[in-house]
Amino acid sequence: MDEITATFYCEPCDRETAKKVAAESSTGTWTELKTMKKRIEKISARVTKVDKNNNIIKITYPIDLFEAGNIPQLLSSVAGNIFGMKAVKNLRLLDLEFPEKYIKSFEGPAFGLEGVRKLIGTDRRRRPHLGTIVKPKVGLNPKESAKVAYDAWFNGVDFVKDDENLTNQKFCPFKERVIRMLDARDRAFQETAERNLYSPNITAPAEEMLKRAQFVKDHGGKVIMIDIVTVGFSGLQFIREQNLKLAIHGHRAMHAAFTRNKKHGISMLVLAKLARLAGADQLHIGTFDVGKMKGDYRDDLSYQKALTEEMGNIKPAFPVASGGLCATSVKKLLDRAGTDIVIQAGGGIHGHPGGTTAGALSMRQAVEGYVNGLALRDIMTYPEFKQAVEYFK
Ligand code: 3PG
Ligand code: 3PG
Ligand code: MG
Repeated sequence: MDEITATFYCEPCDRETAKKVAAESSTGTWTELKTMKKRIEKISARVTKVDKNNNIIKITYPIDLFEAGNIPQLLSSVAGNIFGMKAVKNLRLLDLEFPEKYIKSFEGPAFGLEGVRKLIGTDRRRRPHLGTIVKPKVGLNPKESAKVAYDAWFNGVDFVKDDENLTNQKFCPFKERVIRMLDARDRAFQETAERNLYSPNITAPAEEMLKRAQFVKDHGGKVIMIDIVTVGFSGLQFIREQNLKLAIHGHRAMHAAFTRNKKHGISMLVLAKLARLAGADQLHIGTFDVGKMKGDYRDDLSYQKALTEEMGNIKPAFPVASGGLCATSVKKLLDRAGTDIVIQAGGGIHGHPGGTTAGALSMRQAVEGYVNGLALRDIMTYPEFKQAVEYFK
């Protein structure tokens, strides 16, 4: 059927309230309309489920309510006025299901999970990608940042990214940083023969983002990072639709403002599905209850599934676990997440007692140890890993 179905947690949970949600998010308003026409009634949303025991309602929206390829418009409908209605005490958009016709109106990730693997060369010998965030998250100058990044790449990190709040501040101008970082990336590659990536954060108003993305491309970059929530879906779609042949790393900073409350807001599952449709090649999904951020690992598994399951013409995106991870988190994380994951550590690498070099080595030892099925006591023979275990506890 050519319909979009939305599942909500709803309080109070009864048919009357559900009908109000359906009306306000499609063709209705708070009162009957003299301007209503039969043909318009046909495209009104319908309540298709009211589960009072679990406070779940489902609303089904005919596809004609939506414009192809327009995520902002989708959200203005199914996640618009309804959250502020007096009729609801709490309302949370838990899930969205799309028909093939709607999915087809998006391009999705240009590279996706397999495409990013090819950039690193792990499409054959598969293992998790290892990433780091230059720390301190802001404050280092371009030269200092490049030194930290070089030490990480040289010692086994595949992927270095900027932090979510680093863009083009005075202490670290974007252009100089990109040039120095890409130069360090190339030097590390020449010396180790291991392919590696740098993802500069281009987050800014749309036109400026495009200029920054173009600058990255002109200087040999392969990936850009976007804070997809603060920039908004318009910004993400805008950059994707330029077809720059740059992979997009999606950071979700600010998502918890609407995803964290279990009774109200929008779920991370919805955000993950939309980010994939809009073209994020990689997306932060949480750390499976191993790292510093709040989250149930079963929820993270559902986001991972949303990024990687079959979705018509849309490629799978690469899930990223980031936030509070270190060498001692790796086993537990991979037991839960599997190996199709990017593991990122900022503090876990640059906070290692032996510094970035030892931190990067400890993470790579943990990842390789896991993939090769080594027992903990065997991985402990690596001094950097051992030191991480003793230090981070
Ligand atoms: C960070 O920036 O510290 C984390 O990546 C944020 O965590 P999240 O990916 O769970 O949002
Ligand atoms: C991120 O943006 O993903 C992080 O800054 C993670 O940082 P951490 O590993 O120090 O928590
Ligand atoms: Mg961060």
